[in-house]
Amino acid sequence: MKKEELKPKKVNDSRTIMTEMVMPNDTNPSGNLMGGNLMRWMDIVASVAAGKHCESEVVTASVDHVSFTKPIFKGDIVTLKSAITRTFNSSLEVYVEVFAANMKGGNNRMCNHAYFTFVALTDDLKQTKKVPKVIPLTREEEKLFEGAERRRELRLLLSGRMKPEEAKGIKEFFKNI
Ligand SMILES: CC(C)(COP(=O)(O)OP(=O)(O)OC[C@H]1O[C@@H](n2cnc3c(N)ncnc32)[C@H](O)[C@@H]1OP(=O)(O)O)[C@@H](O)C(=O)NCCC(=O)NCCS
Repeated sequence: MKKEELKPKKVNDSRTIMTEMVMPNDTNPSGNLMGGNLMRWMDIVASVAAGKHCESEVVTASVDHVSFTKPIFKGDIVTLKSAITRTFNSSLEVYVEVFAANMKGGNNRMCNHAYFTFVALTDDLKQTKKVPKVIPLTREEEKLFEGAERRRELRLLLSGRMKPEEAKGIKEFFKNI
């Protein structure tokens, strides 16, 4: 990994909002937004925030906790919001929230959320590179920051990249409940 001294950044420096309208081509046979199309938009809004934070190319390494709790209908306006929760070495976690409403702003609801992990790459796209730290300022940002360490351990455990005995944050969490 290429080593550099990087200036920490605020969450708001890379916070990203994207708006889409659900067109007929985006829907499944039931007339609702197809899950795969929503995930594509989520990946885009998350990667923009990650890329802005890292000021580099990023690739999606994993996606966690995606659930489609409420359907999104043809013609709905979909607003996707992304924010960096925490950075590690070459990777960073991005939280994405999805809201939908009709064109008049009615039936406004939160439909989905997920945590994306991205890895920053050097300009030649051949190596991973260190990412700047993120500074959480609000209570919400701090809460997401604290939880990110446990979520990272869990995803690395499940993908076989971490041994159970290394997952100290998770052990500590379960000891306290
Ligand atoms: C993501 C990728 C760069 C990781 O490469 P790698 O050789 O495994 O790199 P490393 O082992 O050095 O890990 C690099 C970072 O990725 C993280 N990582 C790797 N796999 C991960 C996973 N499944 N979930 C979460 N983080 C992961 C590591 O924890 C590490 O983070 P850290 O540096 O902050 O500690 C590589 O697997 C890749 O290029 N994947 C394809 C990405 C892509 O094309 N995405 C679009 C999908 S269509």
